[in-house]
Amino acid sequence: MSLLITGATLLDQNGRRGGALRIEDGAITEVGENLESIDGDDLIDASGLVVSPGFVDLHTHLREPGREEAETIETGSRAAALGGYTAVVAMPNTDPTQDCVSVVEFVRRQGQAAGLCDVHPSASITVGRAGTQLTPFAELAAAGVKLFTDDGNGVQDPLLMRRAFEYALGLDVTMAQHCEVERLTGGAVMHEGDCCSHLGLPGWPSLAEELMVHRDIELVRLTGAPAHFLHLSTSRSVELVRMAKADGLPVTAEATPHHISLTDELLRSYSAIYKVNPPLRTMDDVEAVREGLLDGTIDALATDHAPHVSESKEQPLDQAPPGMLGLETALGVAIAHLDTDLATVVGALSWKPAAIAGIGDAHGRPIEAGEPANLTVFDPTEEWEVVPARLASKSRNTPYVGVPLRGKVKHTILNGVPTVKDGVAQK
Ligand code: DOR
Ligand code: ZN
Repeated sequence: MSLLITGATLLDQNGRRGGALRIEDGAITEVGENLESIDGDDLIDASGLVVSPGFVDLHTHLREPGREEAETIETGSRAAALGGYTAVVAMPNTDPTQDCVSVVEFVRRQGQAAGLCDVHPSASITVGRAGTQLTPFAELAAAGVKLFTDDGNGVQDPLLMRRAFEYALGLDVTMAQHCEVERLTGGAVMHEGDCCSHLGLPGWPSLAEELMVHRDIELVRLTGAPAHFLHLSTSRSVELVRMAKADGLPVTAEATPHHISLTDELLRSYSAIYKVNPPLRTMDDVEAVREGLLDGTIDALATDHAPHVSESKEQPLDQAPPGMLGLETALGVAIAHLDTDLATVVGALSWKPAAIAGIGDAHGRPIEAGEPANLTVFDPTEEWEVVPARLASKSRNTPYVGVPLRGKVKHTILNGVPTVKDGVAQK
């Protein structure tokens, strides 16, 4: 089967140009200004649309095994494909935890069976994410795990974290930290600041994140092992990473769509839809995180797609779990809220996270003959609003109802085959 895409704007790490491409047997076989359709070609008219390398999400909670009422690997993969993703990194806070090869392999196989995007399981740093004993890094690395994280929690013990960095050396794996010093965040439901004091709610201080960012930067300086910082949310965290990069340390960072678009003021509604960890911060933080993305301090935009069933999100703020959906709205939020060129946005969604995930050989590739055909085709100007009932995710906890978004995925192509065509999932 061959697929011809015509009339497109091609956008990748080598720039932007008009063109067409032909895809055969999973790979791009021809790129040119104008390509003639051959009998039997499947056709996509991409006039007015951008073709880019497929998006890669570094931070997806797929909930399977253990919380299939909120999401399954299949429903989450479908949401990913609709959001333009050809690969996602599955977070390990499942039940059982992705802390051993058998659970990691289960997640990988379920991803392959769904066939909607490449599912790359991460593994936890500590057994059961309990923060006391390291998982078998070498065995997990041999099974293909590239990112290790206790996400949902940070590793509190500095000695254990030092050992984790030391063991990571030589295994070609990266420690990804959820930065939160729990002694400072017990019982917190939102960002500690003016709004929080006014509402009389327990606060999550920025310092709790920044202390752990700082600790891990110093552990990277000591050990030489790389670190990736998950969902950075404060202006000072961005500054710490900026300085670490200036020192030449091997650190990377991500931010979420919600931390560049929403603030703690939304908690005035007392709605747990806006409860997330780390919490929504102030407008100054939002602006600093955006600036970090624009100057490359923050490498990637990662969703922290965190599905939760409605009954749990309808509970009072202190009881509801933190987290919001992200996969199907990420592009629309990014274009609407980042005042920059499209290449910066797409880089943060595609080739930069692909490199951090260690899958840069298959995803986030330049659009050239001989490259694997993992691609996203989107309209960068379309304005739209999310309709929760139409989401492919099994959960409905999106904070973007009634919020104007700009930029809509039309087609997603995985290994040469459309997983999404004209905005419709193909399976
Ligand atoms: O808001 C969040 N939700 N932050 C996390 O770190 C974990 C996630 C979840 O698993 O629901
Ligand atoms: Zn987290």
